[in-house]
Amino acid sequence: MKVGIIGAGRIGKVHLESISRYVKGAEVAAMADPFMSKDTAEYIKSFGVGKITKDYREILADKEIQAVLICSSTDTHAPISIEAIEAGKHVFCEKPVDHDVDNILKVKSALEGKNLKYQVGFNRRFDHNFSAVRRAVKEGKIGALNVLKICSRDPAAPPVNYIKVSGGIFLDMTIHDFDMVRFLSGEEVESVYAMGGVMVDEEIGKAGDIDTAVIVMRLKSGALAVIDNCRRAAYGYDQRAEAFGELGQIAVGNDTSSTAVLSDKDGVTSEKPLYFFLERYMQAYVREISEFIDCVQNDKPVPVGIEDGLQAVKIGIAAKKALKEGREIRLI
Ligand SMILES: NC(=O)c1ccc[n+]([C@@H]2O[C@H](COP(=O)([O-])OP(=O)(O)OC[C@H]3O[C@@H](n4cnc5c(N)ncnc54)[C@H](O)[C@@H]3O)[C@@H](O)[C@H]2O)c1
Repeated sequence: MKVGIIGAGRIGKVHLESISRYVKGAEVAAMADPFMSKDTAEYIKSFGVGKITKDYREILADKEIQAVLICSSTDTHAPISIEAIEAGKHVFCEKPVDHDVDNILKVKSALEGKNLKYQVGFNRRFDHNFSAVRRAVKEGKIGALNVLKICSRDPAAPPVNYIKVSGGIFLDMTIHDFDMVRFLSGEEVESVYAMGGVMVDEEIGKAGDIDTAVIVMRLKSGALAVIDNCRRAAYGYDQRAEAFGELGQIAVGNDTSSTAVLSDKDGVTSEKPLYFFLERYMQAYVREISEFIDCVQNDKPVPVGIEDGLQAVKIGIAAKKALKEGREIRLI
């Protein structure tokens, strides 16, 4: 199966590597980026990619390419998704589909009546730790869910120029955690309340965003969920979760590069968490793309669809409103 990748930045290269190295029965036949540098083109060529272009429409026009991965900047996701669907391609689209609900609904309408797969890049659903929490909750191991806690902190803040076009912390960073709340609980979010501050970089505040937040949610069953986010964690990428219920709790900690623990006269020391998403979630990226390819090849429903992309953005927009207005915002 031939695949095209649109966008040759950080995440486009992750998917190129995953498919080329680990996914049997699929090959990256083309890659497009209007700012394709010589070095990037050389790198892509080293994976045996036949077509390297600055214009993604060349990929959409290629009849041999069955599916495209949209890995370009967020503002291009919805328009390119619609063009790709109209060109008859199956689509894997990176998160978020768009910052605007109406634009996501346009993608949803474009999909109606078409026998095409559309998967959204919520990679954390494929992480081995979070999958274990989901399994336990789904199998009733902790009974009825009471409280879900997600801790999600980046090792360092991105440049302020990135912040300015990111859509804000809730739509850029917390969007993964909003999806985790829905995934781990198996429930919809009924209402959201958010508090936030600027504690890492005052330039982020000047750009109109926050860098630290706590978000509280009520789920459909009445269970509560809480997310804490920060754009800086001195010890690395902090990605933990706990589900607490009537029969017990299940918790997952951070992944480390080894399980070595040094004990000496000063104390007991173990490894820091893996540095950032490329280190921590590499296996999850491989799994999400493998599943997408499998869904296309064997006509299975995708594990994360357009509705999941839509709901996470709706929660993010409600959290923004909650922060601005200082009150709980109802979603349903
Ligand atoms: N799922 C995840 O864990 C994850 C991680 C990182 C980024 N992302 C998402 O992936 C997207 C890209 O992020 P990134 O970190 O790779 O950014 P990036 O800036 O490294 O790469 C984006 C690339 O898209 C290219 N581009 C812009 N317009 C284009 C167009 N019309 N056609 C083709 N290419 C175009 C840019 O030139 C750039 O090379 C963002 O939406 C981001 O939210 C998801």
